[in-house]
Amino acid sequence: MARVPPQLIETLRQSREVTVLTGSGISAESGIPTFRDAQTGIWAEFRPEDLATPEAFASNPRRVWDWYAWRREMVSEAQPSPGHGALARMARTLSGFNLITQNVDGLHQRAGSKDVIEYHGNIMRDKCSVEDVVVERPAPGDEVPPRCPACGGMLRPDVVWFGEAIPAAALESAQLAAERCDVFLSIGTSSLVYPAAGLMEIALRNGATLVEINPAQTPVTKLAEFALTGTAGAILPQLSAALLEPE
Ligand code: APR
Repeated sequence: MARVPPQLIETLRQSREVTVLTGSGISAESGIPTFRDAQTGIWAEFRPEDLATPEAFASNPRRVWDWYAWRREMVSEAQPSPGHGALARMARTLSGFNLITQNVDGLHQRAGSKDVIEYHGNIMRDKCSVEDVVVERPAPGDEVPPRCPACGGMLRPDVVWFGEAIPAAALESAQLAAERCDVFLSIGTSSLVYPAAGLMEIALRNGATLVEINPAQTPVTKLAEFALTGTAGAILPQLSAALLEPE
């Protein structure tokens, strides 16, 4: 498992602005399977790519709603991982810090991170599938999916499905955070899904130092000045502790 190179600590100490992009790997240590992990139980026969789509919701809204209910249950029982906690501490020690996550589990916020850019939305929020506005979770009723109290449209999770656009505000703030930073950390993401994966390229184009934390190789590993092979839960607490040590 990679130890944190001293020159990375120095780079972070001297950084003006650090931007972090996290993927499902940081939540793997909270017990939430990554996207590319096989699904379990009754959902084993389905691929996320076949459930997290507008078409799947149109053809079988109840199945998609039930899948998210299963995932919400898993998320509410999960605890933030040591990696989530370390990022929340790092934000308080660095001069400029932006956190973009592809995860919809809200664990960064539960670990104490503020102003999280939720690139793919948040599974714990519902929205009206007709008006596209966030709606308070209704009391459990017999209708599945529940209906919007304002227009009667079906509710759906407030997440970005395959083929849907990233929310404009998140897209813009993430792009800005990638353009402005002088250090970009890519943590626990396979860097396969765009436009999130394009954020690394924007940061590199603007001269940022790219750092990757992942037990496996990804398409950006070769572009990283610091490619730390290991888990977020093992590496990030070391990083956060080293930043707190007197220089
Ligand atoms: N610490 C760090 N990284 C880890 C850990 C860990 N403990 N465990 C696994 N990983 C890495 C894997 O090696 C992999 O590269 O996390 C990555 C998870 O990749 P994916 O499952 O592809 O998840 P992610 O990159 O977040 O997917 C991006 O694609 O499916 C869509 O919208 C979905 O947000 C998701 C997006």
